[in-house]
Amino acid sequence: MDTQPLKDRRAIVTGAAQGIGHAIAARLAAEGARVAIIDIDRRAADEAAAQIGFGAIAATADIALEEDVDRAFDQVVAEFGGLDILINNAGIVGSDTPVHDLQVSDWDRVLDVNLKGTFLCSRAAVRHMIPQKSGAIVSMASISGKEGNANMAPYSVSKAGVICFTKTLAKELLEHGIRVNCLAPALIDSPLLAGMEPERVDFLTSKIPLGRLGRPEEVAAMVLFLASDESTFTTGACLDVSGGRATY
Ligand SMILES: NC(=O)c1ccc[n+]([C@@H]2O[C@H](COP(=O)([O-])OP(=O)(O)OC[C@H]3O[C@@H](n4cnc5c(N)ncnc54)[C@H](O)[C@@H]3O)[C@@H](O)[C@H]2O)c1
Repeated sequence: MDTQPLKDRRAIVTGAAQGIGHAIAARLAAEGARVAIIDIDRRAADEAAAQIGFGAIAATADIALEEDVDRAFDQVVAEFGGLDILINNAGIVGSDTPVHDLQVSDWDRVLDVNLKGTFLCSRAAVRHMIPQKSGAIVSMASISGKEGNANMAPYSVSKAGVICFTKTLAKELLEHGIRVNCLAPALIDSPLLAGMEPERVDFLTSKIPLGRLGRPEEVAAMVLFLASDESTFTTGACLDVSGGRATY
């Protein structure tokens, strides 16, 4: 049995300078993948790549910007000689605001990063994957994309969009040997929580039947499954990482 399920696979993980993405990049690298971090924070991305080791590299992009994304993907693919795995992880939560007070700029930025960014990165990746007739894409949705969370309309809508984009893209790519899936985590212990009101963190934690926050490593383990050949009969799926909150 191969002890490294991702041996020689080439992977991009967006938003991997910290939090869940960092844990994913570290796990994929430990399982044999050559990993590139693409993040808006260059210094943190460089530090994360150095800390992860295993030849991990970093590139900078704001995933909401077409030119940034295409340049960063071209740069990584030129260095790696191809691309086998894309993890669409970068995302922002936005402000804690009811719809009647929401600024259009808040709505636009969250949708631009979380949903348009997922589209732009997926498009850049599949342009490299289609010719080789293989690949795996895993995107980070959220339980809020299934249920909707009050005061988090842009975030919830963007994550619902990620779920539907996953199903759509999966159908388009069946004939090209590329699988596309997403995850719907509940609250995970990451730096993202620092941008949320403490009362919201407490409320969302109280909705998790297991009674605790998830750990980034628990999300990374699910990503490994979906990115590897352990899940070759799974595409277009949204899998749960919610401590029992989503039972559907
Ligand atoms: N933490 C949670 O509770 C939770 C729950 C469900 C889903 N998620 C999703 O998981 C993903 C990771 O979340 P996290 O908790 O690790 O967040 P985080 O804030 O800790 O990390 C996000 C990373 O993305 C990067 N980033 C932000 N905007 C970017 C942009 N425009 N371009 C490139 N990089 C950008 C940041 O620099 C950072 O490194 C997000 O998509 C988030 O919505 C998180």
